[in-house]
Amino acid sequence: MDALSNPYTPNAGAEPQAVVGRDDQLGSFDLLLARIERGRAEQSMIITGLRGVGKTVLLGQFRSKALGRRWVVIELEVSKNDDLQFRRDLGAKLRTALYELSPKARWTDRFKHAAAVLKSFSVSVDPDGTWSAGLDVEAAEGFADHHNLAMDLTDVLVALGEAASEQGRGVVLLFDEVQFLSKIQLEAVIAALHKMVQRKLPITMVAAGLPQIAELAGDAKSYAERLFKFPSIGNLSAADAKAALQRPAEEEDASYEPAALDEAVAITGGYPYFLQELGYAVWTVADDPTITREDLLAALPAYESKLDESFFRVRLDRATELQRAYLRAMAELGPEPQKASDVADAMGRTSTNLGPTRAELINMGLLYTPEHGFAAFTVPHFDKFLKRAIPTLVVPPLKTRKRGQASA
Ligand SMILES: Nc1ncnc2c1ncn2[C@@H]1O[C@H](COP(=O)(O)OP(=O)(O)O)[C@@H](O)[C@H]1O
Ligand SMILES: [Mg+2]
Repeated sequence: MDALSNPYTPNAGAEPQAVVGRDDQLGSFDLLLARIERGRAEQSMIITGLRGVGKTVLLGQFRSKALGRRWVVIELEVSKNDDLQFRRDLGAKLRTALYELSPKARWTDRFKHAAAVLKSFSVSVDPDGTWSAGLDVEAAEGFADHHNLAMDLTDVLVALGEAASEQGRGVVLLFDEVQFLSKIQLEAVIAALHKMVQRKLPITMVAAGLPQIAELAGDAKSYAERLFKFPSIGNLSAADAKAALQRPAEEEDASYEPAALDEAVAITGGYPYFLQELGYAVWTVADDPTITREDLLAALPAYESKLDESFFRVRLDRATELQRAYLRAMAELGPEPQKASDVADAMGRTSTNLGPTRAELINMGLLYTPEHGFAAFTVPHFDKFLKRAIPTLVVPPLKTRKRGQASA
């Protein structure tokens, strides 16, 4: 059918025509804002899930909801940045929030104070005052100038929260990719939000990230468990997966035969990103507005090669020979989480020897540890792809040190 009318959205963060299967999280978000509006405390959320399940899309839905309730929204996509860059990025966003809460011409003392605290917060990362110049205030001495991210961020959010509260409005921070927050950044965010709850100030944060964020390190942990729920999102149920395909089609006066939908669920496992890719591919192949199972099967090669060439391939391209062998050995064992010792056995090596390789793959985001001692692929169907891309497992020979050579 016509490419122009193709209603599917196989792109990272692209809002689908039909956002299905997320009613629970959307309901929790409404409740969170409504309770804060009434001056009540409520656990906030960190949404966890693998790549491509729809975390960014869900944050986008939260954004629309919050704007609909006249909240100020601060969006931040976290990257592996140092703490100074984090401070700079967040400072800039908080400044925008301050202006959104009230135009400068109408600033009350509370707003001026918040601006002054924000200026202190940014002085260390903006010594010439380039961006804070517009704030047009002196830095507030004794506030947000402790050279400690947790204390400084707390001061800023308290001041901003008091200003927001004066306006009868709330501020919600939407953080994406929170697994990239450093320990210091994460602890700072948690400490500041904890203060918001204690002081009943109308600032909250909802975040999304890969599953490893749920096992927060160290001191942050006990606080975090009280402050946040960690709902995980994943594959859609069969009924929702079918709706994710059917509803966008119906809006274009097309529809699927039941057998086609069953086949689509079987192929994609209800994984949101795969559903969009499959829907996109089958739309291209089908000539008739009634999409059949045959159309779906005819679209499979295009669907698979698209996934192989983009989604899967980029992950493998960055891997070394040994890392690839590790992944391939895991694929041989199956799609489930695998024990380190089993993978080592399959490669004819020891877990100790392969420990660094496994750690590198986790660090690269190719594997994660759903439970101690196990590792799993961070995207579904990666095992099948690996088998297609690397037909046989080849383990590179162990590098042996020559006699007489100094050890490294
Ligand atoms: N609830 C949903 N129903 C149908 N498709 C969805 C849904 N959520 C996300 N998608 C689609 O899945 C893909 C991945 O979404 P994205 O939000 O980028 O995932 P993540 O941030 O978890 O990696 C996109 O193509 C998007 O259009
Ligand atoms: Mg995302």
